[in-house]
Amino acid sequence: MSKFKHDAIEKSVGLMIVLTLLTVSVGGLVEIVPLFFQKSTTQAIDRQGNPLDIKPYPALQLTGRDIYVREGCYNCHSQMIRPFRAETERYGHYSVAGEFIYDRPFQWGSKRTGPDLHRVGGRYSDEWHRVHLINPRDVVPESNMPAFPWLQRQIRPIDMNTIETKMERLRMLGHPYTDEEIAGARAALEGKTEMDALIAYLQGLGTALSNFK
Ligand code: HEC
Repeated sequence: MSKFKHDAIEKSVGLMIVLTLLTVSVGGLVEIVPLFFQKSTTQAIDRQGNPLDIKPYPALQLTGRDIYVREGCYNCHSQMIRPFRAETERYGHYSVAGEFIYDRPFQWGSKRTGPDLHRVGGRYSDEWHRVHLINPRDVVPESNMPAFPWLQRQIRPIDMNTIETKMERLRMLGHPYTDEEIAGARAALEGKTEMDALIAYLQGLGTALSNFK
């Protein structure tokens, strides 16, 4: 560009802003748009392209996930293991994009007051989680995680009326729920506490890659 034109841009704040925005947008789009079409970010596959055994959350886990969000667990826990040795030694295989295709919205988080939970599924027994959620200090004396005893007490029974609608809406977004799964959703929640739902959710986390080390 000739010196004259460059001077014109530098001296005109408006023009500079417009051109800066244009450059940043094009740069951003070039990076972001391909992700919508890439197999590794839109399909349940690992980084080598092998299919992962990922299904949309069953009714009980889906309910548990909403409780996880409601209680703000994401404020202290991430669900995103980064590909660094310090992380993979502690938590297991790093997270891959294909694992999150049925997470709306994803719970990656960025704050780790507590440990990452992406591969916590199967690490402890259901009973351990129950005791831990009622009072973390009972199993981890130095813990500063808050207690969530009300999940156990069924003050608020699980809301059965919304589960079918929720699953139908997710199906509209591409989660392959079958009619039978939706029809059986209420039965799956029958007699369960919020604690049961949350634990079911935690026990399912990150397990699709568990055979892949
Ligand atoms: C104020 C921060 C905070 C909040 C909010 C919080 N946690 Fe924690 N969590 C921690 C800390 C710190 C630890 C590590 C000590 C321990 O195990 O209790 C922890 C540990 C855990 C562990 C054990 C992980 C492991 O690998 O050992 C689980 C499971 C867990 N939290 C689940 C939850 C769930 C579910 C919620 C929401 C209902 C929640 N946490 C909310 C701070 C928090």
